[in-house]
Amino acid sequence: MCGIAAYIGKKKCRKYVLEGLQRLEYRGYDSAGFVCIDSQHKHLSFSKAKGRLSVLKDQLNGSPHDGFIGMGHTRWATHGVANEVNAHPHFDCKKSIAVIHNGIIERYDEIRKKLKAAGHEFYSDTDTETIAHLFESLLAEHHDLKQAIKALVSQLEGAYSLVFLMEDYPEQLIVVRHRSPVVVGIGEGEMFVASDPLVFSDITQKVLFLPDDSFALVKEDSISLYDFSNNPLKIESREVDARYIHTGKSGFEHYMLKEIYEQKLAIDKTIRFYNSLNGEGLEDSFWDQLGLTLGQVKNLKTINLVCAGTSWHAARIAQFFFETIAKIQTKVYLASEFRYMPFFPDENSVYIMVSQSGETADTLEALRLVKSKSNIPTIALTNTPSSTMVRESDGFLLMQAGPEIAVASTKAFSCQLASLYYLACKLAVEKGLMSEEQMRISQEDLLVATEILETTIETYKDEIIKHLAPRYSSFDRFIFLGRHISYPFALESALKLKEVSYIFAQCYPSGELKHGPIALIDNKTPVILFSVLDDVIYDKVVANAQEVKARLGHLVVFAFDGQEELINLADYAFIIPKVKPLLVPLAMIGLMQFFVYQIAKELGLPIDKPRNLAKSVTVE
Ligand code: M6R
Repeated sequence: MCGIAAYIGKKKCRKYVLEGLQRLEYRGYDSAGFVCIDSQHKHLSFSKAKGRLSVLKDQLNGSPHDGFIGMGHTRWATHGVANEVNAHPHFDCKKSIAVIHNGIIERYDEIRKKLKAAGHEFYSDTDTETIAHLFESLLAEHHDLKQAIKALVSQLEGAYSLVFLMEDYPEQLIVVRHRSPVVVGIGEGEMFVASDPLVFSDITQKVLFLPDDSFALVKEDSISLYDFSNNPLKIESREVDARYIHTGKSGFEHYMLKEIYEQKLAIDKTIRFYNSLNGEGLEDSFWDQLGLTLGQVKNLKTINLVCAGTSWHAARIAQFFFETIAKIQTKVYLASEFRYMPFFPDENSVYIMVSQSGETADTLEALRLVKSKSNIPTIALTNTPSSTMVRESDGFLLMQAGPEIAVASTKAFSCQLASLYYLACKLAVEKGLMSEEQMRISQEDLLVATEILETTIETYKDEIIKHLAPRYSSFDRFIFLGRHISYPFALESALKLKEVSYIFAQCYPSGELKHGPIALIDNKTPVILFSVLDDVIYDKVVANAQEVKARLGHLVVFAFDGQEELINLADYAFIIPKVKPLLVPLAMIGLMQFFVYQIAKELGLPIDKPRNLAKSVTVE
């Protein structure tokens, strides 16, 4: 959510910090700040601004403030409105300790009250400022940096990654991690600290992900790492995945558009990668990565999928894959709800955490809950190999989509679908429900669907840009309808429209229409209806379309070749080549995303960074 970028070395830091923050823009933010130890005056010098990073950059333009150690932050407001005062960095009373923070401090108010009573002066409404003052008072009490950090973390509750810059320690950055990821990039005589390796991955690929509950003293040529009891820890650096090297928009106007067009390749890479794990003589390597024995696979009775947002929609669609192809009962949970529901540890079950980022706070906490209450195997299905979920789950399934920068998820969603489809087929093979040959054919079906995903965009591109986007961007609200496997797809479509165009969109299973929502049908509220390729359900979808038209509703359908009855009812019909019935969402996905993207573009909105949203939701 918030973005952290820091530098220490022999070069001036401001350029690296601001460039790093720019790369984190995709995470979403509402204000930004920069602080360094001024190379001339040797004291902390800072600048903060409300709004986009460009405002901060303009503010700093021409100013001499720069140094060899500094840090910056993009804030996504949790405590206190978005304004300059609440932007990070925050300071102690003497303005000699600066702190930036990603996460949330729980019950900070109690600490703040005590500190205020002891004479500390506060300026902002943030939880973060409390950390600076608390650290100030602990340093005064302990006269020792490491002891003060130990005391600090013993008092802080919640989730946080922190970076401190202190006038008294001008040769080091102090980095603390508790339940919120932070990474150090190890360069030649220089170090970077960031919330995402994208910040520095074109300069160094050697990284240290701070283990949970640890802190690091980062100097330009060394790192000392400690646990929260001040015991030294071994530095286990690694190479960041080459896919995570910053590549920019590659000529596309927005990351979202680039990522829409990357889907076919991303799915192809993902499937090839999974197949490579089943190579000759590596019979169980696929299941090994998932942390499952063949015995567990064969006896699997229940699959639990826990996730949030778009990942939850992917899981809802995947429920059809697992139950239809592998005949395994599947339960899908919203992570934010799961955590507060009674937990029933089913025998012969597995928990799959579906998360593009592998960092979503609710999903991560759900994973921790399952692990703390049972021995049920946990698997992270994610796009981020270095993520906390990968580290903390028993096994993982890594998609090969490459970094997804646009806040609105596109290629991660389609890769999740392809991955879960592949997994359902693999399970069916192990259970003797599918032959290897059928598995191979299923993969071809998958690739046909992804081909259609792309070609349909080309078919409708001009029509969408010239006529449909201008026309539909003028409506204030939409209703989305789907049935069976198309219902969770309709949910995802409505979410996509809301995220990037800010147009209100309500989604229902089309069978529910007559139980209430039909009252909303009028000619000012376009209804977007997604078809299916199951004959029985298709007839019901047609009946639902008739219900809309009978009330003079405006109907747009995503239908398949030959579905004339439905097509003829529509005010506008996108017609898509037929695929396997379970792959209907994958075939419709590119067109839906492109349509929504163009509506947002028509409205002139900041598509890659919609208001109020953050890419990686690392707070509850
Ligand atoms: O990284 P995750 O898949 O765990 O993220 C879950 C949601 O926050 C995410 O899908 C969100 O809904 C996106 N903005 C959707 O476009």
